[in-house]
Amino acid sequence: MRGSRAPVVQLSARVAGSPAEVFPVLWGELSSALLERGWLVRSEPDGRLRSLGRGSPRSEVGWVDRWEPPRTVTITWGRPRTGAPRAPALTIRCTVDGAGTTILVEHRGGEHLRGAPREEQRLGWLTTEVFAPLLLAIAPARLAAWSYDRGGRRPSGPTSRANYREPIYHLPGFHAILEGLALGKEDRLLEVGCGGGALLRRALRTGCRAAAIDHSADMLKVAAQQNARALAAGHLELRYGDAGALPFPGGRFTCAVMSGVLPWLLDPVQAFREVLRTLRPGGRFVAWTGTPRMYGTPAAGPRVRGGPRLYSDRALMSFARHAGFSEYRVDHPDLRGVAAASGVPKPARFLFGPDYGSLLWARKG
Ligand SMILES: C[S@@+](CC[C@H](N)C(=O)[O-])C[C@H]1O[C@@H](n2cnc3c(N)ncnc32)[C@H](O)[C@@H]1O
Repeated sequence: MRGSRAPVVQLSARVAGSPAEVFPVLWGELSSALLERGWLVRSEPDGRLRSLGRGSPRSEVGWVDRWEPPRTVTITWGRPRTGAPRAPALTIRCTVDGAGTTILVEHRGGEHLRGAPREEQRLGWLTTEVFAPLLLAIAPARLAAWSYDRGGRRPSGPTSRANYREPIYHLPGFHAILEGLALGKEDRLLEVGCGGGALLRRALRTGCRAAAIDHSADMLKVAAQQNARALAAGHLELRYGDAGALPFPGGRFTCAVMSGVLPWLLDPVQAFREVLRTLRPGGRFVAWTGTPRMYGTPAAGPRVRGGPRLYSDRALMSFARHAGFSEYRVDHPDLRGVAAASGVPKPARFLFGPDYGSLLWARKG
């Protein structure tokens, strides 16, 4: 704290694995977290940090000052070279520590505080902007919500990336959706919350064109890898976006799907309204989700705040009605046979019986 040249904040953590194992995960998570907040950082020496400035032009706001993975990386705010000599910067160091790695995150700078007295301001900034968020981040409820985010609401990290490449427990739902939609070449499909793009991969085999959004940078990366050919051929468009404000013009799609997304939406009616807006007249919409019977099973866990929300048929149909769909119904297909054929382990197949899964079908008038 004392003296303008002293680092203001240092945080350290010891984790298992060598720096060569730890660094790529750490950097991957950091870049995804930044992207989800509207910042893009290029992983290279002199790589730029850009504001994606939703709605405004992209602007460069910083740069990778030091790029020596897996040991040291520094990201500095400002403009390279011309930036102030004490421009605020964050340095991440990974050093070998026994069988593990110590990660040291160090902040320097802070000359941009306005007014006096500066030391009092530094202490205020540290307390309100660093310590208070850290205290809230370690609250048990927040940690639980974070792990729901990581696995379902906004999947991220190596395990989620691997799981959503071929999400075995979603394959029966994909089967029911695709069977019902019977897509053809003329179809223009929208997927909201595409995860790792496994449903898209299957849908695109029918010759249809598709566009999809997700608000997880990690999931979009996997979806892009899984559908690289279709992307290159211009048959698929992947966009970062929120279900509540789809980045597509009205009337663009013949059909739309959501698989496993409803449990995570804060405002399902708004998401349905957006689907309705982007559908052509006569366009079909299908959402696959679990029924409340799923609470207490390994698929949904207990009914808790911040966990998945599972809806009755009545609730699903009222979302469709309030969003403005003219026709809607809920089906409960028995997909236990499909689950067995998809490789779902025997003890989990009951979750694909008619009591546990709902398919909401709706049509734009
Ligand atoms: C449980 S995963 C399902 C992924 C994929 N549809 C599947 O069935 O394998 C839910 C997906 O919806 C995305 N999602 C949740 N809420 C969203 C929102 N408000 N806007 C955009 N995507 C959302 C998540 O990021 C995640 O990829």
